[in-house]
Amino acid sequence: MTLWGSALYSEPSDEHLRKLNDSIGFDRRLYAQDIAGSIAYARAIQAAGVITAGEADQIVSGLEQVKAEFESGAFVIGEGDEDIHTAVERRLTELIGAVGGKLHTGRSRNDQVATDFRLWTRDAIEDVRIQLGFLQAALIETAEKHIDSVMPGYTHMQPAQPITAAHWLMSFFWMLARDVERLNDALRRVNVSPLGAGALAGNPFGVDRAGLAQALGFREAAQNSLDAVADRDYAAETLFVFTMIGVHLSRLAEDVILYSNPSFGFIRLDDRYSTGSSMMPQKRNPDPMELARGKAGRLIGNLTGLLATLKGTPSTYNKDYQEDKEALFDSFDSLDLLLPVMTAIVKTLLLNPEKLKAALDPELLATDLADYLVKKGLPFRQAHHAAGAAVRKAAEQGIPLGDLALEDLRELSPLFEVDIRDVFDFEASVARRDAIGGTAPDAVREQIRAARAVMGSKS
Ligand code: ARG
Repeated sequence: MTLWGSALYSEPSDEHLRKLNDSIGFDRRLYAQDIAGSIAYARAIQAAGVITAGEADQIVSGLEQVKAEFESGAFVIGEGDEDIHTAVERRLTELIGAVGGKLHTGRSRNDQVATDFRLWTRDAIEDVRIQLGFLQAALIETAEKHIDSVMPGYTHMQPAQPITAAHWLMSFFWMLARDVERLNDALRRVNVSPLGAGALAGNPFGVDRAGLAQALGFREAAQNSLDAVADRDYAAETLFVFTMIGVHLSRLAEDVILYSNPSFGFIRLDDRYSTGSSMMPQKRNPDPMELARGKAGRLIGNLTGLLATLKGTPSTYNKDYQEDKEALFDSFDSLDLLLPVMTAIVKTLLLNPEKLKAALDPELLATDLADYLVKKGLPFRQAHHAAGAAVRKAAEQGIPLGDLALEDLRELSPLFEVDIRDVFDFEASVARRDAIGGTAPDAVREQIRAARAVMGSKS
């Protein structure tokens, strides 16, 4: 018999309905939060004079016993245990008798489940935040080894301008720094207590909701009971941030996949983080990076799935919301698998300086060629045109851009002089870009200082 099977029900639920209805298969994961919420609630109804101190003590020690059973693996899910809330209460009553039945006074599974899930989400956010910190630290650590390593930078996946490898790595640091901000911001709204909202209308037993919120470490009690039991925006918002993180990781993964391709050869993946082929002995496949790329799709699916579930649901609680948990659990688990591997890969990333150098085609300096003319007074538009003509001339002669004879360049603009040779220097090119946020080693050193300050200021 189910817990809600009151006098109204003369027949037990159909077996197929139970399979559809039950959430214990996945929400048992909330046992610690459920029990923490119940302990706080028992004390709150004691304070409100609904139960005696002795009864509250019995309930609390019973709940602690139930928790110990979950932790040791001794807890046995029973036939009628529809969800974590009914399972805990059923076991509590077995352990302490009818007094266990007083716990649910004025409470509903509607405010209960919203409380449990917010508590869980709070911890999940904290966990992801810590792991992002490790990845950010790894990005800084590896970047510091490559402040002077010059490589081609790309736009549209076409060689564009020379950059430093440290600058490339640090670009991901800032993406993740914004994700950390987003997590902190989401946490503020997650950390609000629905407990005491009841099924929808509020608590008639004079429970101190503010005290309850405080006991559970929430920032405050939700101001509207209808909203408190029904909205899942906190879950959707957390899912969005998790998804954004997944999208950022997928972009880093894609760079690593490309740069570790032998045609680039910029990166060699550590043996521990690449996988072989069962057939082709030469292969070093970036499987974990492809999984990072693939998991982003899964995270996007969880986010859009939940939003679609929430859309158009009427006030207030609807069973549709039971679908929120697996989406968030799955996205969290995906990041939890991915982040440690990503961090290890960044930490052990081997950049091949020869390959980086070999990929530096003088054409990457075509912009610098135009800038040279600008410095001699030519408007940029004309300078851009002349540099384009130089690229074309070099291609026609079948020589690298830097090998064009001075006479040939002077046909394009009389402003070219012998000092044009100085332009064809990749190190000098990156060093010139030393304004805030630029790729110059000096600017990147400043950037890393700023990044460290961001890391240090984090709570
Ligand atoms: N398992 C349910 C959920 O996850 C708990 C709340 C059920 N409430 C109800 N009135 N049926 O949403």
